Amino acid sequence: MPEIKLAIVGAGRMGITHYAIINSHPDVSMVSVAEPSPLVLTLMARYLSVATFKDYRQLFDQTHPDAILVCTPPNLHFEIIREAGRRGIHVFSEKPFTTKFAEASELARYFTDLGLINQVGYVNRFNDIFCKVKEYIAGGLIGKVIRFKSEMFCCTVTHRDEGSGWRATHECGGGAVYEMASHAIDLVNFLVGKPEKIVGSSLNHIYSKNVEDAVSTTLLYRNDVSGTLYINWSDTSYRKPVNKIEIFGEGGRILADQYSAKIFLNKPAESWSLHQGWNTIYVTDVFKPVPFYVRGNEFTRQLYHFVECIRNRSAFSRCTFSDGADALEVIEEIFTDYELHGRI
Ligand SMILES: NC(=O)c1ccc[n+]([C@@H]2O[C@H](COP(=O)([O-])OP(=O)(O)OC[C@H]3O[C@@H](n4cnc5c(N)ncnc54)[C@H](O)[C@@H]3O)[C@@H](O)[C@H]2O)c1
Repeated sequence: MPEIKLAIVGAGRMGITHYAIINSHPDVSMVSVAEPSPLVLTLMARYLSVATFKDYRQLFDQTHPDAILVCTPPNLHFEIIREAGRRGIHVFSEKPFTTKFAEASELARYFTDLGLINQVGYVNRFNDIFCKVKEYIAGGLIGKVIRFKSEMFCCTVTHRDEGSGWRATHECGGGAVYEMASHAIDLVNFLVGKPEKIVGSSLNHIYSKNVEDAVSTTLLYRNDVSGTLYINWSDTSYRKPVNKIEIFGEGGRILADQYSAKIFLNKPAESWSLHQGWNTIYVTDVFKPVPFYVRGNEFTRQLYHFVECIRNRSAFSRCTFSDGADALEVIEEIFTDYELHGRI
């Protein structure tokens, strides 16, 4: 089979990470990169055998990729992805996908109608522990879910920011809600389902002038299910980003992060080899190896999944634009709830 011609739009932190990973795939040929930074373009042109462009439209015109990875600041994703769709190109977009729910829904419908592979980089859906937790919840291990808590902590913004760079404005997709809470929201959507209603949202400034550094909110569901969300991207007690989720059900409780899960069960579950009381699983217990490792197994697994779905159109495509739109709907509800009720 011919190799998949792949291009990257936006060669910053994630673009370079994804380049390293996807370049290891035997079915992929890296053809081009679009990036406005002359320094990055010069280095890439010198050390890698790829065509480089300042403008992604020129990249499309001249290198005709089959698929692209979109790794620009979030406010640019919509135009790039729509143009890629127009040209019949499969797209993997970094989260939070776009900055507006309406745009995200439009792209989800557009790509479905076109029959093009469309995925969003909510990498937790490819983490070994969170996949195991999904199996537990879906398999009824802790019975009906009643309450949950989804949290994310990291030290992204740790000094006073007077508003430089895309992370410093909502218009560009910056702020703790778009950048970090999107991961925690998607994890809830993945494990528990999309909430019906958002209440009690609060946004805090710690260092940033124009965007929030911390956010908390309550997510409500039918049948009295509810959960809370708390995210802080200025917490220097964390060196690496950590997602934590705690889910309480009628039959027990699960506490998980990317590296391990603790499971308390009211009754033993022989079919899962779990006993009554506390059980612990570590990522090394459920780890499925990947051919190339950067930052975590899940980053490789999600990009290899993108390639697999392009190769085999009957494969079940995970973490689609529709999932990206779901997270954005919750994000918009948090901002609206905060505007209406969040200030005294
Ligand atoms: N999945 C994850 O864990 C994760 C982690 C970090 C960032 N992200 C997401 O990845 C995306 C990029 O984040 P980043 O940390 O790499 O940011 P970054 O600022 O390091 O990189 C963005 C790059 O896009 C380039 N760019 C700007 N305008 C462009 C254009 N018109 N065409 C092509 N390139 C353009 C910039 O010059 C820069 O090099 C964001 O959506 C972010 O939310 C995801």
